Amino acid sequence: MATTAQTSALRATAPAIVVLSVLALSAPAFAVQKAREGRQVVETVCAACHAPGKDGAPKIGDRAAWTPRFAKGIDALIDSAVNGHGGMPARGGVVQLEREELRSAVLYMFNFGLPPVAPPAEVAKADPRHKLVAGTDIYLGAMPAEAMRAGASSKASVPTGKGYYHLNISLADQRTGAQVKDAQVKLRVSDGMSEQASALAPVVANDSVSWGNFFKLTSGGAYNIQAEVTRPGVARPIVTNFEFRAP
Ligand code: HEC
Repeated sequence: MATTAQTSALRATAPAIVVLSVLALSAPAFAVQKAREGRQVVETVCAACHAPGKDGAPKIGDRAAWTPRFAKGIDALIDSAVNGHGGMPARGGVVQLEREELRSAVLYMFNFGLPPVAPPAEVAKADPRHKLVAGTDIYLGAMPAEAMRAGASSKASVPTGKGYYHLNISLADQRTGAQVKDAQVKLRVSDGMSEQASALAPVVANDSVSWGNFFKLTSGGAYNIQAEVTRPGVARPIVTNFEFRAP
């Protein structure tokens, strides 16, 4: 997060000319179309700064840069896009953009390079990997990296090499049935000989949040996948184990 000094420095250096030229380029497109998709908004407006990472703008598809910003919550992040934040002009400098459009644009930039994530209900139907612990439904999903590379529009964030899986956890509150969006999730993946442990990064789609990361599963044997879920309002971390065999 930028300090006040950095923030005002960014403000001072943000070139007004860039913002104006973005406006001039995009205004005609915006006059005609009402429902603008995240991708279109990004390509016509946000990309001017977010593609090159101008003045420290988090780059499109750079989840390492975006993830800490999501820590304050999606809505607070959308607020910054609406109101401006440091070198980030309010609404990207295009006043006609509506909040929902900015939201779609932010999610598009965050998820760029990943295939769309199935919402938890579908994951649950398609996948028997489900546990219910401490009032929380926990679903494990796994997708081979090769499959993701085939579907992804940018290959940059999907590891190459054999045996990588994107392991994904999605959560629902058992009592309300609502999706849990504010948890922190860690996974420990062990084949009995070696162990990989990692905090998962949020994977945000329009209305769903899950957590995922890549793990290398090459032994061909069975893996124990231990998920540790920390939920605000739940006193202790919720721990559960899945048996997983790389197909
Ligand atoms: C003129 C350049 C510019 C344009 C155009 C621009 N951004 Fe940014 N954006 C930035 C910069 C610079 C930052 C980093 C500011 C900071 O760290 O406080 C940023 C940061 C952000 C953040 C993170 C704010 C936070 O609180 O951490 C969001 C969200 C964002 N931009 C969304 C957008 C969207 C959506 C668009 C397109 C509609 C867009 N930006 C267009 C320069 C731009």
